Amino acid sequence: MGNIITKVALLIPQVRRLYQIINELRNENERMRLDYENRLMTLESRLADYSISTCDSTYPLDRESSYKIKVDQSDLTNLDQSFFSAVQIINSAHSGNTPFVPTYKYEGEYINESHKSYAGRTLMETGIAGWLSPEDALKIYELSFYSSGDILELGTYKGLSLSVIVQALKDSDLNIACDTVDTNAETTREAEEGISDLFNILPDVSFHINNCVLFMDTAIIQKIKYGFIFVDAGHGYKNTYATAMRVGKLLVPGGFALFHDYTDGRNFSKTSYYRVYQAVNDALLVDGRFVYCGVFGCSALFRYTGE
Ligand SMILES: C[S@@+](CC[C@H](N)C(=O)[O-])C[C@H]1O[C@@H](n2cnc3c(N)ncnc32)[C@H](O)[C@@H]1O
Repeated sequence: MGNIITKVALLIPQVRRLYQIINELRNENERMRLDYENRLMTLESRLADYSISTCDSTYPLDRESSYKIKVDQSDLTNLDQSFFSAVQIINSAHSGNTPFVPTYKYEGEYINESHKSYAGRTLMETGIAGWLSPEDALKIYELSFYSSGDILELGTYKGLSLSVIVQALKDSDLNIACDTVDTNAETTREAEEGISDLFNILPDVSFHINNCVLFMDTAIIQKIKYGFIFVDAGHGYKNTYATAMRVGKLLVPGGFALFHDYTDGRNFSKTSYYRVYQAVNDALLVDGRFVYCGVFGCSALFRYTGE
């Protein structure tokens, strides 16, 4: 009986189209599930190298990692970067203030006086509220200053990290635009006010009130590309994984993605929803197109080397 009803219903073109769409979505869902399982299997096989834990809420605390990663990119500084295992972060030696070292090749410790001014500075002095260590700010400034394309910031809040990006864009004098995205309209309004109070002339900054994953999907469809993506929105596993899986589709080859709070101790607390470390590792460490470029402040840097 059910079969006959289905056959009759399918004679109606609109029902047939709906049926096709549902089937396509079902297949896509199954493909993504298999892809995800494959990734986890690959990751499991590499646990011994990286000494990392996956998205599970329990963590093996029995192994220290002295894993050193050679950042083999001829246009970047020649540095061995430490990969921090979960246990090293939990033991808090590296939970948030890993020193700043340059990624790009330039003379001296800092790019200019403006860059230097972030060293050891309490960023709250800017009058904009937010959470950013001097080491994070130094890295955000450097990556914005040398960015090879437009910049995308996910997580505007009240504009603290954006103020660093804007300062770098003004100083670099390049014609680079910045999109910043947040779900919160109220804090975004405060960010717009705070940033225009701080700078007389603004570079090309666009504020978007949107979910970061929806924003990324729309930008992917529009084939928009960025030179640098700063990720500081929605620190749970699902949102961070969804974001990290999309950065490769939005970066120019050689572009960078910087993930804030990667070494935040809350990633390993059973009472916190933070899982940035696990989600970023699951998405990017098994992706051969990404080069791990180290941790600065509490942020992890990955370079996209794809097509
Ligand atoms: C830690 S704050 C960002 C801090 C900011 N980068 C700074 O330097 O001050 C995180 C922001 O992400 C936003 N957020 C959380 N989930 C989001 C999502 N799925 N899409 C877009 N924004 C999101 C929150 O509204 C919040 O303003």
